[in-house]
Order: sequence, then structure tokens, then C-alpha cells
Amino acid sequence: MAAATQRTKRVIHGIRGTRDILPLEVDRWRRVERVARSVCDRYGYAEVRTPVIEREELFAKGTGESTDIVQKEMYVFTDKGGERVTLRPEATPSMVRAFVEHGLEQALPFAKIYSLGPMFRYERPQKGRYRQFHQLDVEVFGISDPAIDGEVIEMAAAFIAELGIQTAELVINSVGCTGCRPRFSQALLDALGKTVQDLCGDCQRRVKTNPLRIFDCKVQADQPIIEELPHSEDFLCDPCREHFAEVRRHLEAYGLQHRVSHRLVRGLDYYTRTTFEVLGGEVGAQNALLGGGRYDHLVKHLGGPDRPGIGFAAGLERLVLALPEETREGNVVDAFVVAMGEASWTAARLLARDLRRAGLIVLIDYEGRSSKSQMKRANRSRARWMLILGEDELAREQVTVKEMATSQQHAVGRDIVATELLKLRARQT
Ligand code: HAM
Repeated sequence: MAAATQRTKRVIHGIRGTRDILPLEVDRWRRVERVARSVCDRYGYAEVRTPVIEREELFAKGTGESTDIVQKEMYVFTDKGGERVTLRPEATPSMVRAFVEHGLEQALPFAKIYSLGPMFRYERPQKGRYRQFHQLDVEVFGISDPAIDGEVIEMAAAFIAELGIQTAELVINSVGCTGCRPRFSQALLDALGKTVQDLCGDCQRRVKTNPLRIFDCKVQADQPIIEELPHSEDFLCDPCREHFAEVRRHLEAYGLQHRVSHRLVRGLDYYTRTTFEVLGGEVGAQNALLGGGRYDHLVKHLGGPDRPGIGFAAGLERLVLALPEETREGNVVDAFVVAMGEASWTAARLLARDLRRAGLIVLIDYEGRSSKSQMKRANRSRARWMLILGEDELAREQVTVKEMATSQQHAVGRDIVATELLKLRARQT
């Protein structure tokens, strides 16, 4: 019996690597989401919402068989119909699928689309790294001109700046194309020679699947060897070199400071030419706020027309962590309606309804609580005003408006109270 009671009482916890976003934090999330949508709107991106569940094959082919994501991190399972499905680990292949499947090229003036939503990767959780996390994902299809690389990177930087994150650093690189990259991969293998056997297990696997990925290695003991390796920039073919130079000219024209890092190869298979990340904020070791690049063969590779692509994804958890402290929003409740005496409750509820219809954020109590306990709760709500409705007020068709910050109060006509409060609020914010 005792054991049974204990079992029923056990609290069921959330899954490791997932998080509840609680009321005190949600303001920050809403701010990040609001700025994200507003920036996307202004740069001409249309919103797309794709399912969180997709065929496993989409990512095996899209993200790439040799990536950590596909090899180790996907939440894959067989559904009841025998289909191999997965929770999406990133948005890009889904966005490409939607673009191809629905012929968005014809439907939009520019094939610029964005999406906001949760992604799932079975990673080792730590600050800024979770198993369910959220991304703003931005993609453009069909434009090869380096002007779009410049605009996408400028938009990413503008997004970060509009959030008030000031300590961010823009890092860029070019990983070349299918023409010149094999020469670079070979140069890496030649330079490594026999030292391959001194590298970590992951790197030994990388050498076989995609030698560029060695630059992602964080193992300390491997760093002296990696530091000596050749740089991708020295192996770019002429068109790739020119493209990279053009992208940099655009960034300079926008006045965007950036650092070129030959180690920025990114952990996904589809990239060609431009890659970039914005690092920074106070998010600890996981300091990539966003990352992206060009992928000129992915659309075709996933069965679509031969169209280039470029985009980025920003991690919303990391942006929320990196927001400056003062962006926390405080007092959100406008008014708390207090009913004094039994006869006032109905009138108080109608007042709350009318104020809510007028656009104010209004709370009111239940269960006929005493005016004292209503006032206590009004204090706890941090409402701007307490609106008192008692017998006197009812008789005079008025409401007593008490400003909580100053304790000053005055009577306002019941018929004009909504307009008065809206005016006061507009003046105060
Ligand atoms: P990614 O670099 O894998 O790229 O992820 C982009 C961003 O998502 C990261 O910079 C980081 O902010 C966030 N992120 C990634 N993994 C986690 C995690 N486990 N926990 C918290 N945040 C995380 C992509 O996903 C590509 N699809 C970007 C892209 C779009 N490239 C072209 N278009």
C-alpha cells in the first residue's frame, strides 16, 4: 500500500535536454520572436511552417550521411505504418522539400522563406545546447549573385544588433565548390600523412568520410596538427575565389566588420562556397548564435530543379541567453479590478470585460474573496492600476482608479474609464 502511494505521488520530470519556458522568461522569447518576424518581413521573406516530423531519408540525403547529426543525433523511429521517420534536426532540408513540393518558385516574387520552430538533436546537453531547441531558419533559392550572400549576412547581423546583442563577432569562410574542394581534401590528406594515426577517433573517421570536418575538432591534443594544415582559401578555383572576394566587398560596403577563419567548415554536408557564423553573447562554450552558408546543389540533390540556395539558422535559446539584461520586460498587467462588497461583483466583471475588449490587460479575482485579499493579489500582479468598484462608485457610475506606483487615486466616469486608461498608458510607455 505504502509503495503504491509512493508510486502515484512520484513527480514525472521533463526529458533531459528539453526545457519548459516559464512565464518569467517568456517575455524574452516573445521579444526574440517578434524581432525575428519583423526583420524577415522587412527583407521580403515569406513565412513557411513545416511539420516537425519528416522522413528519415530527407536528412540522410540532405544534411548528409557523414555528419554527426545523421550518424548520432537524430530521433529516428519506425511509425505504426512501418515508415522510418525522424524529428527534424534542422530546418533546411524541410524548407527545400516544401519549396520543391509546392512549386514556391512560381508562387513568390523571390523564393525567400523563413520559419520558426523546434528542432531535435540527441546531443550532450549543456548551457546553450539542448535536445529540443528552437531556430529561426531563413532560406533563399535561385540566386547565385554574391549580392544575396552579402544581404543574407547583413540581415543576420542586423537581427543580432536589433536584439541589442553587442558583443557578437561575424566569422566567414569559403569552402569552395565541387570542382575545387576535392583538391583541398586531397591536400589535407597529403599534409596529414602518417600523423592521421595521432588524431582522435572522430578525426580518423572524418578523414575517411569528409576530411574538411577535421577543422570542427575540439580535442586539445589534435590542435597542433590541425594548426599546420593547409587553408581552403588557397585552393579555391578562380570563380570561387572571385565569389568570395565579391561577398567580402559587399560586407565592406555595408560596413560590416568580419573575420575570415579557414576553420569555419560547418558541420553539415551541403555547403558550397560561403559559410558564416555569428559568435558571441554570454552563452558560454556554445557561442554560435547563428550559422549558415550557401548550398548550390542541395535543391537538385533532393529531387528539385537545379537551383542554388543560401540561408542561416539562429538558435533562439542562445539569443534569449545573450539578450542584454535591460530587455527584460516588467509590468505587463494594466489593471486589477477590485470588487468591494457582494453587490459589485457582476458590475466588476462587466468592467473587466469592457476594458479587455478595449485592449487593456486586466485581471479580476474569483470566489467572492474579501477586498483585502483581492488587494493583496492586485499588489502581487504588479498591475499599473487598481480599479475599485464599490457601492459608492456604482451609485455614481464611476470607478476609482488607483495608480499603484504612487498610490494616488481619482474617480473616473464608468463610460470613459477605458479611453482614459488607454490615454494614460500611451503617455507612460
Ligand atoms: P547549425 O549550425 O547546425 O546550422 O545550427 C544553427 C544554430 O542553431 C546554431 O548556431 C545554434 O545557435 C543553434 N543550435 C544548433 N544546435 C543546437 C542545440 N543542440 N541547442 C541549442 N541551439 C542549437 C543549421 O541548422 C543549418 N540548417 C543552418 C542553415 C540554414 N544553413 C543554411 N541554411
